[in-house]
Amino acid sequence: MDFIGKNKRSHFVENLCVINVGKTVTVMGWVHRRRDLGGLTFIDLRDVSGLVQVVFRPEKKEIHKKAHRLRNEYVIAVIGKVVKREKQNINRAMPTGEIEIDAEELLILNDSEPLPVQINENILAEEDLRLKYRYLDLRREKLKDIILLRHEIVFAFREFLTKHNFYEIETPMLMKSTPEGARDYLVPSRIHKGKFFALPQSPQIYKQLLIIGGFDRYFQIARCFRDEDLRADRQPEFTQLDLEMSFVSQDEIFSVMEEMFKYVFKKTINVDLKIPFPRLSYKESMERFGIDKPDTRFGMELINLSDVLKNSEFKVFASAIESGGSVRCIVAEGCANFSRKQIDGLTDIAKHLEGKGLAYCKVEENGFTGGVSKFLSEDEVKGILKKTDAKNGDLVLFVADSDKMVFKILAEIRNHLGRELKLYDNNIYNFLWITDFPLFEYNDEEQRWETAHHMFTLPKEEHLKYFDNEKDYGKIIGQLYDLVCNGVELSSGSIRCHRLDVQKKIFDVLGFSEEELETKFGFFLNALRYGTPPHGGIAPGIDRIVMIMSKAESIRDVIAFPKTLQAADLMSESPSKVSKEQLDELGIELATKAQRHKEEK
Ligand code: AMO
Ligand code: AMP
Repeated sequence: MDFIGKNKRSHFVENLCVINVGKTVTVMGWVHRRRDLGGLTFIDLRDVSGLVQVVFRPEKKEIHKKAHRLRNEYVIAVIGKVVKREKQNINRAMPTGEIEIDAEELLILNDSEPLPVQINENILAEEDLRLKYRYLDLRREKLKDIILLRHEIVFAFREFLTKHNFYEIETPMLMKSTPEGARDYLVPSRIHKGKFFALPQSPQIYKQLLIIGGFDRYFQIARCFRDEDLRADRQPEFTQLDLEMSFVSQDEIFSVMEEMFKYVFKKTINVDLKIPFPRLSYKESMERFGIDKPDTRFGMELINLSDVLKNSEFKVFASAIESGGSVRCIVAEGCANFSRKQIDGLTDIAKHLEGKGLAYCKVEENGFTGGVSKFLSEDEVKGILKKTDAKNGDLVLFVADSDKMVFKILAEIRNHLGRELKLYDNNIYNFLWITDFPLFEYNDEEQRWETAHHMFTLPKEEHLKYFDNEKDYGKIIGQLYDLVCNGVELSSGSIRCHRLDVQKKIFDVLGFSEEELETKFGFFLNALRYGTPPHGGIAPGIDRIVMIMSKAESIRDVIAFPKTLQAADLMSESPSKVSKEQLDELGIELATKAQRHKEEK
């Protein structure tokens, strides 16, 4: 029998402490570090739980010699006695710092080549290199802890929902390609040549079908796939805690979610969340923060100055208001001392978002100086100071444009300043519900109506009348909601259309022809004919939740094997080319470069 067969591991290293002094233990793990000091050889042995110091004494000649062969990341087993360290050798920075293991036996289970990336938090290699050697990067304590926390969080969700009569039910990964917002990842069928499955963007249709199938409360830790442009908090494949309930109102869903988040935060990171969470309508959120996922850990709210500035001599302001837009500002307290460079930096944010510019004034001696102050009349200055309550030493930042653009720019600058000026405590979790979103938004570029969230949302009963006239579509408020925390959209959901007639009205606004409807959604519309109960649900994004709870800097840090912003896996080098035989089997022929070029033209 080999060593591991004969010698069972007795402890994870971090469980060792002074209570174990005098005991002989067997530990296994990696050589984290080796030091030779005054004839003694010290190893920091690392396992999944942490580190412990092992000492090899020169008296035990054979293993002392063997210990000299050890290099970083060699895999070893050590049998030895736990001893208390001398007072002066106690390491308070290490949970096991009061003891060490006096090695009696050493077995080298495997060696390791010198590492291409170091497992050291202080000298992080470039992220691309770390992603290429992800399995080594995962050995890093910080990353490992996040991945383990993720397990705890998911386990707590499962536990809570199971206790509250939800059943976990799997839904297909290979499904019909149906338009749901983003682009589908397609999977060609070998048996049905020329036909494709899609990977689910979310289990939306299936969860509704489960409700129609009579399951009262459903949940699933569901993998979702979206072929879309990636941003900092987006991955092409990500995980939702997808759930759906029958016979519920929005209030009931909110209350189950509040209880659930409270339970999970307490259990996994020992944070007490105050419930119920505040609620803000979409409209109010936009007016006050310029965004539907506001970070409410700090103030600096937007202030509408259109009233004060509508007759301004300053054309930039007056013309924006005249053409239906607005002038709004934020007040950066105590920032009148910002340098030219700092202000240019803020202007660059506006320009980057395709804004026309950013105007500013410094408040001094109860008046304005610098920036656009010379264009403003005395009354205007007075009016602005009154509305904003800006004080000496503050910096007022203005944007004049369409509301959409004003909101976009000021929201971004507000978030930027919040971060830069450290206006909030990182240990606070400010949850809030955003409610009453419009059901439809007009896509100016494509000149058509789109759903703001998804097409299965029930409009407010009293807004059904607005379906009669296209000019009213924008007024229809959907029973849909987002759960936001610290400026991140964590979850999104809605009360669904359980009525076929209303569902058809929605498809109608979106411009689906009868034929398209039949081929794309026929099966789903059919299902709505046979007694669909009122239902609704929500889907918290697990990756973003773990990101917030672990204070990770990137969504990639909460996923064991993530993709880059270019939607690639650097470790396995995928996506990758496939053989001609594979393509032939699928009946697929790739266009040549020349053909593609021609088509693009
Ligand atoms: P939605 O598309 O808003 O809703 O997604 C719900 C939540 O999933 C997370 N999320 C993402 N996380 C990482 N990377 C992505 N690319 C990504 N996209 C979304 C977010 C988001 O709030 N079927 C509906 C839910 C419902 O109505 O029940 C849906 O998918 O945290
Ligand atoms: P201009 O008259 O274009 O030189 O602009 C004067 C100042 O107003 C500059 O600081 C611009 O960045 C700023 N500005 C220009 N357009 C806008 C706008 N739409 N909103 C806010 N500030 C603007």
